[in-house]
Amino acid sequence: MMATALGLLGLVCLAFILWLTVDGLRAIAARRAAEIARQPLHMVVAERREVAGELLSLRLIAAKGRVLPSFRAGQHVLLQAPAGPGGKTIRRAYSLAAWQPRPKAYELGIKREAMGTMTPWLWKHLQEGSAVTISRPQGTFAPPRSARPLVLIGGGIGITPMRAMIHEGAASGRQIVLFHAARTAGQLLYRDEFERLAASHPNLSYLPILSRPQAGAWPGLSGRLDAALILAQAPEARDAEFCLCAADSMMAQLRADLTAAGIDEHRLHWEAFGVSAGAGSAGLPLAVQTPQGSRQYLTRGAPTLLAELEANEVALPSECRAGSCGQCLATLDSGEVDWLAKPEIDIPAGKILPCICAPRSPLALSIP
Ligand code: FES
Repeated sequence: MMATALGLLGLVCLAFILWLTVDGLRAIAARRAAEIARQPLHMVVAERREVAGELLSLRLIAAKGRVLPSFRAGQHVLLQAPAGPGGKTIRRAYSLAAWQPRPKAYELGIKREAMGTMTPWLWKHLQEGSAVTISRPQGTFAPPRSARPLVLIGGGIGITPMRAMIHEGAASGRQIVLFHAARTAGQLLYRDEFERLAASHPNLSYLPILSRPQAGAWPGLSGRLDAALILAQAPEARDAEFCLCAADSMMAQLRADLTAAGIDEHRLHWEAFGVSAGAGSAGLPLAVQTPQGSRQYLTRGAPTLLAELEANEVALPSECRAGSCGQCLATLDSGEVDWLAKPEIDIPAGKILPCICAPRSPLALSIP
C-alpha cells in the first residue's frame, strides 16, 4: 500500500518536473524569438526606380546574401536613416510592395513627401549599391484567411500593400476585387501589372477609379469611391472581407460608408498612412502636462494628435509615426480620441499613441 502511494507521488513529482522543464523551454524559445524579431536587417539597394516622379521603388537584398524572413502580405518594415536634424537617425514605416513565399528581396514603394524629412533624404541618398538598415517585417495588417471573397481598396500610394496581397492571393483561387482610387491615370501605380494579372486570373478583378480624369481620355470609373459604387461594381463585396489602405480622410469616409451600407465592422481591416490636410478638428482645447510644466492650446486642425503637438512645439519621440514603435505613448487624462489605425503593440488602458490618434473632444494629456 505504502509502496503504491510512494510510486504515485513519484509520478506526480516527475510530471511536475517535466511540466516545469517544458514551460521553461517555451519561455526561452519565446525570449529568443523576441530577440530575433528585434534584430535589424542589413540590406543593399539592388534596384532603384522612380515612377511618375512621385514614387521611389526600391528592391532590397540582404547585404550578406542571407535568406530573408518571410512575411504576410500587408506587413511593413521600419527603414532607418540619418535623415533627422543634424544627421539624427530616424525610422519610418513602409509597406512591403511585393510578396513571395520565400523572398529573395524586399520591394518598397515610397511616395515622395515634399514637406517630409525622410523621403527627400531617401530620394537623394539611396542609390543602387547603397546600404540600408530595416526592421524585420512587422504589423498586423493582412487579409484574414477565410473562404469569403476579398475586396482590396488602395487610395493613392495605399496601393503598395494591396500589390503584395494580390501577389499572395492571385494564385489561391480566392475571389479578389481590387479598387485603386487615384486622381489621374498617371497616378495608377502598377496599372499594367494589375491588368495583366486580372487578364490571366479569372478570380481577380481590377477596378481603378479616378477622381480627376482627363476629359474624354478615360473610359473607366470616375468620381468618388464609396459603398454604393463598390457594391454596384462588385456585388460579392456584400459577403467579403475588406482590406483598406488610404489616407486618413478617405479611410474614415469609406469605413463609415461601408458600415452604413450594412458591412459588418469586423470585416473591415485597415491601415492608414500619412496625413491629409484638414482632416483633424480645429479649435478644441488641448491641455498638455510635460515634465517641464503644463500648457494649454487650441487644436489647429492637424490630422493627427502628434502633428498637433508638433505644431505647438511639443516634442515627442516618434520613430515610426505609424503605431508600431510605441515611442509616442502618452496618457489620456481626459477627453476622447479617434484611433486612425490599429496600434501594432499592446496599449495599456488609459494610454494613447498620438501618431495614430486625432482629438474628438477637448483633451488633457500627460507626456513623459
Ligand atoms: S511614433 Fe511609433 S507608435 Fe507613435
